[in-house]
Amino acid sequence: MAVALALLAVMAALSWCVSPATAELTRIEHPVKDGAPLRLLVVGDWGRKAAYNQSRVAQQMGEVAEEMEIDFVVSTGDNFLEDGLAAVDDMAFHESFVDVYTAQSLQKPWYLVLGNHDYRGDVLVQLDPALRKIDSRFICMRSFIVSAGIVDFFFVDTTPFQLQYWTDPGEDHYDWRGVAPREAYIANLLKDVDAAMKESTATWKVAVGHHTMRSVSAHGDTQELLQLLLPVLKVTLIKTSAISSPSVKHSNMRRNIRRFQENNVDFYINGHDHCLEHISSRDSPIQYFTSGGGSKAWRGIFQENEDELEFFYDGQGFLSLELNENKARFAFYDVYGEALYHWSLSKANLLQVQASARVTEE
Ligand SMILES: *[C@@H]1O[C@H](CO)[C@@H](O)[C@H](O)[C@H]1NC(C)=O
Repeated sequence: MAVALALLAVMAALSWCVSPATAELTRIEHPVKDGAPLRLLVVGDWGRKAAYNQSRVAQQMGEVAEEMEIDFVVSTGDNFLEDGLAAVDDMAFHESFVDVYTAQSLQKPWYLVLGNHDYRGDVLVQLDPALRKIDSRFICMRSFIVSAGIVDFFFVDTTPFQLQYWTDPGEDHYDWRGVAPREAYIANLLKDVDAAMKESTATWKVAVGHHTMRSVSAHGDTQELLQLLLPVLKVTLIKTSAISSPSVKHSNMRRNIRRFQENNVDFYINGHDHCLEHISSRDSPIQYFTSGGGSKAWRGIFQENEDELEFFYDGQGFLSLELNENKARFAFYDVYGEALYHWSLSKANLLQVQASARVTEE
């Protein structure tokens, strides 16, 4: 009861706090307890009417969520397989979501992006607030921001980036209402994401999308995202010579130092490949996490890429994330609730690394 009331309070707050952050992106202020760390679970590629271990993953999510007392859940997309939702009263909404993630601890807001399979149904259904009348947890938008105290989450609609879905869809039909033409949609989206990231003063910046940037599994890297989205997320490194040169006026210097602090997204979290992965970027501080193990997995495909593989599990599971002012802690869990991998990053160390990278630039 208390949980239900708390959730209602969050939902009521949401309807007040939703405001356009920039021209286009909606910002949701997620209420946080002062000083308490933010805790959440991330799951992707899950909606299969409880089959392919979806229910086992859901059960373990419930247990971990209870132990951690999570604030919310993030979904990296492919929420309903194989073809999204057909209508607001599609029973798959119940069979794959409402009736599967039943634990009390999971009765929290779910912030969801769309995956490519969600675009194969009626794409507008999952975006329709009417679904929240059936289950108030379901908060799905194309691209939006969730501000939760020290963390800003930038949710990015990545399906339209993949050119092949437009030019060579094969048997599949994609519902492009609201995003065509592709080039204009992507250009506007990148502009809005860039502006929102520059505006952000959060300690941690986390980008979430469905598609992989780096992956060693079946889909591999998504070239369009590496070319178009990644440069927006990256630290804007400037040469220290530009700062220290006597010819640079003081105000310019200040602007340049500010530039150095722009956009630097800490983590990109995605689904799409049905596995769990952590990959480190070799030329930026960005860390890539794949959490796409919500149901069908075990593809048995491994292909290396240019970045550094830290962890790969080809089976089902999910990701937990805990963030405070100084530390981000990640853990991957399997269908037994076993923690397969722990990884953490200290913000102080990261800033040191960035500072020394800047010095050695010279
Ligand atoms: C369910 O999980 C178990 C344990 O990882 C695995 O052995 C089994 O193959 C999985 N079932 C499916 C359908 O993936």
